[in-house]
Amino acid sequence: MSPFPAAAPPLSAPIANSVPAANIVDPRPPSGARADILAIGQYQVWPPVVLAPMAGITNASFRRLCREFGAGLYVCEMITTRALLAGNPKTMDMIRFDPQESPRSLQLYGVDPAVVGQAVRMVVEQDLADHIDLNFGCPVPKVTRKGGGSALPYKRRLFQSIVTAAVTAASEANVPVTVKMRIGIDPDHVTYPDAGRIAEDCGVAAVALHGRTAIQHYSGSADWSAIARLKEIVTSIPVLGNGDIFAASDALAMMAGTGCDGVVVGRGCQGRPWLFAELAAAFEGRPAPAPPNLAPVAGTLRRHAELLCEEMGYDRGIRDLRKHMAWYLKGFAVGPDVRRDLGMVSSLDELDRLLGRLDLDQAFPAAAQGPRGRQGAPQRRVQLPHGWLDDPDADAVPEGAELDDGGG
Ligand SMILES: Cc1cc2nc3c(=O)[nH]c(=O)nc-3n(C[C@H](O)[C@H](O)[C@H](O)COP(=O)(O)O)c2cc1C
Repeated sequence: MSPFPAAAPPLSAPIANSVPAANIVDPRPPSGARADILAIGQYQVWPPVVLAPMAGITNASFRRLCREFGAGLYVCEMITTRALLAGNPKTMDMIRFDPQESPRSLQLYGVDPAVVGQAVRMVVEQDLADHIDLNFGCPVPKVTRKGGGSALPYKRRLFQSIVTAAVTAASEANVPVTVKMRIGIDPDHVTYPDAGRIAEDCGVAAVALHGRTAIQHYSGSADWSAIARLKEIVTSIPVLGNGDIFAASDALAMMAGTGCDGVVVGRGCQGRPWLFAELAAAFEGRPAPAPPNLAPVAGTLRRHAELLCEEMGYDRGIRDLRKHMAWYLKGFAVGPDVRRDLGMVSSLDELDRLLGRLDLDQAFPAAAQGPRGRQGAPQRRVQLPHGWLDDPDADAVPEGAELDDGGG
């Protein structure tokens, strides 16, 4: 069965007439399922497939698309704890959930146990989310240079204090806390075994491991053997594997090869939210849906535009869509002029006109399979605060590592 709406959406449909929801998957595993249900605290997640938090991408509109195609859990863009406590308007605006979104997953970034604890208390008291994921994987130099993101788990006691503060505050409302991390800083400074053990002891509901070090950034390939190793270390809570799932078969291979309890999918669904329908089918033991030709791809792009306009307002919504354009159209014969104009589209009417110029019967191109999204080169070295590696047990809060705004 196609996960796309039966009829290609009318490209000229007004916003109020948006395309019907694609495919709401039953949240229970059918008989013949190829994995167990994933328990994140009290939440039963099926399929065991998580939309990875991606700054600038996983806003409410994109999460809704991914959910409708079949993602089991869908994490909001990263929110920084200090900005949250300050009530930063841009940050508060990012904490937006669709009424049907359940559980509401919020990712927090913080480096100070006191600030993280207060932020989680605020989330709980104001009922802002049902699940909190803590980000310890960010590799960008502006963050690691200050000791934040993927640099932080190296400081074991500080890491433990942050996670404890979050779990303690969240437990008052039975909100599960999870941790997302990388393998470590570089091959000589591997942090995930200790961090996994500590997080488990602190009472988190699951740990997710992106199989890269910070120095790799998004280059090379993810080392799934680290996920298998983490699964041996962390035994009482689910371990989620992350990195380089670009097809449903990758997810099954990761589960089989590592024993992980669920997968986290990031770049593979950029411009391809229907990957979650393919993942759901694979986990349910159903035949893979046929890859879409350009008509349903254009329909999904159009629906994404409508959702963004509804979420952010018309002008911001259309502008935000532009970054998704190349991903949706990857490998299709579009022509340089239309491709360029789509990249600068400024209204839904213009979008419809441009999509109307495409040959919508084109089959899904082979070139659009496989890796997509950010890749780039490894970093030459991971920038860290002076003396950061001297003492893993020093627990001073790094200065200036709290970001003021979201993103990263
Ligand atoms: C554009 C972009 C933004 C990201 N933002 C975040 C983030 O805010 N928080 C986070 O934990 N990871 C973030 N990540 C990392 C992803 O969640 C994921 O760990 C990484 O992309 C590896 O998974 P993949 O190979 O499936 O893409 C981001 C990745 C990308 C490409």
